[in-house]
Amino acid sequence: MENLRNIAQEMGRKAFQGLVVLLHGELGTGKTTFVRFFAEGFGIDPKLIRSPSFNIIFVYRKGDMELVHADLYRLNEEKEIFHTGLPEYMGRDSTVVLIEWAEKLGRYTPENHVKLRLEFESEYERTLMIETKGNKERKYMEKVLEVACIGEKIGETQ
Ligand SMILES: Nc1ncnc2c1ncn2[C@@H]1O[C@H](COP(=O)(O)OP(=O)(O)O)[C@@H](O)[C@H]1O
Ligand SMILES: [Mg+2]
Repeated sequence: MENLRNIAQEMGRKAFQGLVVLLHGELGTGKTTFVRFFAEGFGIDPKLIRSPSFNIIFVYRKGDMELVHADLYRLNEEKEIFHTGLPEYMGRDSTVVLIEWAEKLGRYTPENHVKLRLEFESEYERTLMIETKGNKERKYMEKVLEVACIGEKIGETQ
């Protein structure tokens, strides 16, 4: 949990405009927890972050930037993504977008992104796998991992 907090907060602090973070992992692995820590680093009260399962999408404002938190768990069809407004938010200059159950994006998956996969290790331990697509995204994660403490269980692939 400590490692997840460090990485998520550092990612929030260093987040750039247009960043899209795709969160993968079973129910209860810590995707929403990650978003709370990220929000804290970004400068938004983490207590405001609710699981958006029923609303699909929540938008938080921070100055002239927006943090968009989506949870696609309840989405049945790929084409419904269009109606959530999510495609418009992704890659927009003023937004940072975090998406739980991002595998449901299908063809709406943006070309450039940071993909995080959380897996159960035990009740309190998780394995975090990181993948980046795009130059800016790769450099961003390199910077984040320079600062954030990383456990040996955290793998990194490109
Ligand atoms: N190392 C860890 N990383 C993330 N969550 C953890 C960890 N250890 C325990 N937890 C707990 O697991 C739960 C994860 O819930 P949540 O973030 O809502 O998951 P998800 O959004 O993936 O369904 C929380 O209750 C959290 O306190
Ligand atoms: Mg969740």
